Amino acid sequence: MTNETKSQTAELRLDGRTIALPVLEDNAGCRALDIRGLWKEAQVYTYDPGFGCTVSCQSAISHVDGEKGRLLYRGYPVEVLTEHCTFVEVAYLLIHGALPTHAQAERFSALLNRHSMIHEDMRTFFRRYPERAHPMAVLSAMVVSLSSFYPEVEQADEDIDIAATRLLSKLRTIAAFSYKKSIGEPIIQPSYKLSYCANFLNMMFNSPVEDYTVDPVLVRAMNQLLILHADHGQNCSTSTVRMVGSSGANLYASVCAGICALWGPLHGGANQEVIEMLSGIQREGGSVDQAIAQAKDKTNPRRLMGFGHRIYKTFDPRAAIVKKICREIMTRVGAKDPLLDIAMELEAKALADPYFAERKLYPNVDFYTGIAYRAMGFPTDMFTVLFALGRLPGWIAQWQELKRDPHQRIGRPQQLYTGPAHSTFRPIDQRA
Ligand code: CMC
Repeated sequence: MTNETKSQTAELRLDGRTIALPVLEDNAGCRALDIRGLWKEAQVYTYDPGFGCTVSCQSAISHVDGEKGRLLYRGYPVEVLTEHCTFVEVAYLLIHGALPTHAQAERFSALLNRHSMIHEDMRTFFRRYPERAHPMAVLSAMVVSLSSFYPEVEQADEDIDIAATRLLSKLRTIAAFSYKKSIGEPIIQPSYKLSYCANFLNMMFNSPVEDYTVDPVLVRAMNQLLILHADHGQNCSTSTVRMVGSSGANLYASVCAGICALWGPLHGGANQEVIEMLSGIQREGGSVDQAIAQAKDKTNPRRLMGFGHRIYKTFDPRAAIVKKICREIMTRVGAKDPLLDIAMELEAKALADPYFAERKLYPNVDFYTGIAYRAMGFPTDMFTVLFALGRLPGWIAQWQELKRDPHQRIGRPQQLYTGPAHSTFRPIDQRA
């Protein structure tokens, strides 16, 4: 919980009155004015489009230090977790608040296995989607459908372990099935013999006609990539999950909304956009200068995708790790991707450009992930699905935290009304 700083109170002077606002301070020294009583006290709201200066909740799950380029999950640096943990351990950490013991990890893995299949009736849904359906559309629709197959999610006392593992396990199965559907291949069922990430790779790339051996190097890379996405404070999709959850909607409905928010190109959809941008540069003869010039041109809506971040004003620590993983995957699969060379040239030129330096725009997590996923064999439209798979434990943990938060109320921002003060009604036959 945050502390009310004893010495500090902010004062707001308005209409000849002074209103005292308590100053809260969190464990990282970040301060926030407590404005909860502002409307009652002074009949004034605060205006903050995009919530850049608004603290919407108290959370103990992850901490992003945008100035130092540090990311912590429950106090652990993300670098330590990617080096030493599996994604399942990190998921447990986020949801339960502590890393699992052997016994806890085994129980969690057993539950993940038990809930890995999807209901036979849900499998028939896949047949009805058009061949070119984006897997994010399929994923979100399937996730909200889970609530009709497992209605016990509406019960307040449902075991969070069951709901969480069901969702974690099934999202992976749904993701792989939606890919198989898109390429017209039969689905591969999950196997109890394989770990979480090995299972996912097997469901994605195994086929009835060609044996597929899961490569431990790629399994490790998959674990690391998912860990890097596992949580990230009150980002757009997480805030969406919380907003929807605040109305009392169930976990599956809330996560479905989070998936839809993630899909946007300014958020998780950026990883797909980066590859499309790099491929565009390659098609046009490999000039990165034009992409940079377009991104700087305020009359052009194009941005440098995979660059910039609301919180990071220095290197995104996740981007540095992904760059390293990229190289490891490429060495393993013996691939050389010309897009990697273009990406590195683009990064170097953008970082040396005053436009990006002045605005503190650095590569973010999405800049190199697409190249890593491509080298592993994932098609471009699956990239954001992989982000969703990684972010899922964070969404679950945040949803759960919201439910337990004594300060939580339904999310309901105010607005400044700019419409007409009065419109005169005319019956339909008198309207111009
Ligand atoms: N290319 C060119 N200019 C940029 C970019 C960019 N990628 N990002 C920000 N700017 C400029 C922006 O035009 C503005 O300039 P000015 O001050 O002259 O008006 C300034 O930098 C501040 O930008 P902003 O739009 O106020 O920043 P924001 O915090 O609202 O947006 C962002 C953050 C991530 C949406 C934005 O940087 C962006 O659009 N980046 C490209 C998309 C992207 O890579 N998204 C993935 C984010 S990381 C993964 C995730 O969490 O989803």
